Amino acid sequence: MAMKTKFLVTLGALLFSGLVHAGKTASPLILADTSLLMEVGIPILDHAPEIGVSLARLDSLDEARLTEAAHRHGKCGGYQRLPEAPWQSLIESRETGRSALMDLAEMETGGVPLKGPALAPLTFDPSIPAALNQVDPERLRQTVAYLSNFDTRYHKGSTPNAHVDAFVKKLEALVANAPWKAQIDTVTHQGTQQKSIRVRIPGRTQPDVMVVLGAHLDSITYSYWNRRAPGADDNASGSANLHEALRILATQPQPDRTIDLFWYAGEEGGLIGSSEIARAYARAGNQVVGALQLDMTLFAGDGEFTLGSMTDYTSRELRTWFAALNQAYIGAKVIEDKCGYACSDHASWHSNGFRSLMPFESSFDRMFGDLHTDNDVISDRLNFKHSAMFTKIALAFAMTLAKESASPSPDSSSGR
Ligand code: BES
Ligand code: ZN
Repeated sequence: MAMKTKFLVTLGALLFSGLVHAGKTASPLILADTSLLMEVGIPILDHAPEIGVSLARLDSLDEARLTEAAHRHGKCGGYQRLPEAPWQSLIESRETGRSALMDLAEMETGGVPLKGPALAPLTFDPSIPAALNQVDPERLRQTVAYLSNFDTRYHKGSTPNAHVDAFVKKLEALVANAPWKAQIDTVTHQGTQQKSIRVRIPGRTQPDVMVVLGAHLDSITYSYWNRRAPGADDNASGSANLHEALRILATQPQPDRTIDLFWYAGEEGGLIGSSEIARAYARAGNQVVGALQLDMTLFAGDGEFTLGSMTDYTSRELRTWFAALNQAYIGAKVIEDKCGYACSDHASWHSNGFRSLMPFESSFDRMFGDLHTDNDVISDRLNFKHSAMFTKIALAFAMTLAKESASPSPDSSSGR
């Protein structure tokens, strides 16, 4: 974790110093491999030697050459384009001394226009508490045990899809008797051999408006001597929360809007699955009311039923809305906190213009300490009743946001 944090601090510093030098030219700013930029001869504005990434401006001629070089080296999407709109104002407000990356992280949707309908005010729905009562901590334990029994779910392991294919079978069984027909697909990626899973519950009256629930299914270990990566808390927990939510959604009538449940690939490799998926949703012009991310829900570091809610790479509007949802149906104590970097898949939705929400097992500093080790296993330290609360959040989130809203302007943007 410390290493990753340093990585992102470096990246933030790189971006910030790049802005200072950047001036007001029209070409877009990008982050790319230093070696690629040098090979193609694109001027480097600034670089972070530790991670081999540099900041540059890209004109359209260079773009073709860079893409060609990236593909030649097998690096699809070998660079990241930074959103245009906010940069000028960030350059002008750089005296604040804050990292530009943090400024973007705290915008409603990553500094790009919101792609989602207005949020309707909450009205109490008695079918929601009835659904939440079905949440079973024992079933969560079984699913976490099942997933953490794979030696590893690492996206670069020798069988990166063994658990994916097995889990798809479980999901199919879960929705077999639902009163609607789910679509279950695996999603292949450019950046990894591992596949993500999507279960789509098609909306009845507003199928083009979507609610997204997500968790990363992969695991990783930073150990050099033991490849085992059980990833019970990180993140069999969030994956099991969505599995249990789906089981209960399968007892409910068809929603008005589409509910997409994702188990992402390669999060531990740098949000690989979710960034490709969120970018594809943005390019397709999809309307997403909100994307919920569940990543680590088993360790009650601040006490049972106290959760952390990340304020970076998430939507303020959705967090405010969540406060009302929590009051109506959950009753958790909420501590607002930050990761301080793009720590999980909610950041992918946020940077692509979608509202995201990231409730977490505890405040950042009190999270489970054994993530990314072979000690991330089921033990008395992990609390399934605490985790059950996150399945309830996923259910209340989906059942509420998937209702066709009576709001007059479905496209109205609340900006940032
Ligand atoms: N679940 C972890 C980290 C995490 C920490 C999430 C605190 C939420 C709050 C996640 O799977 C992870 O390990 N993320 C990486 C960064 C990622 C981009 C590779 C990390 O934190 O180092
Ligand atoms: Zn992790």
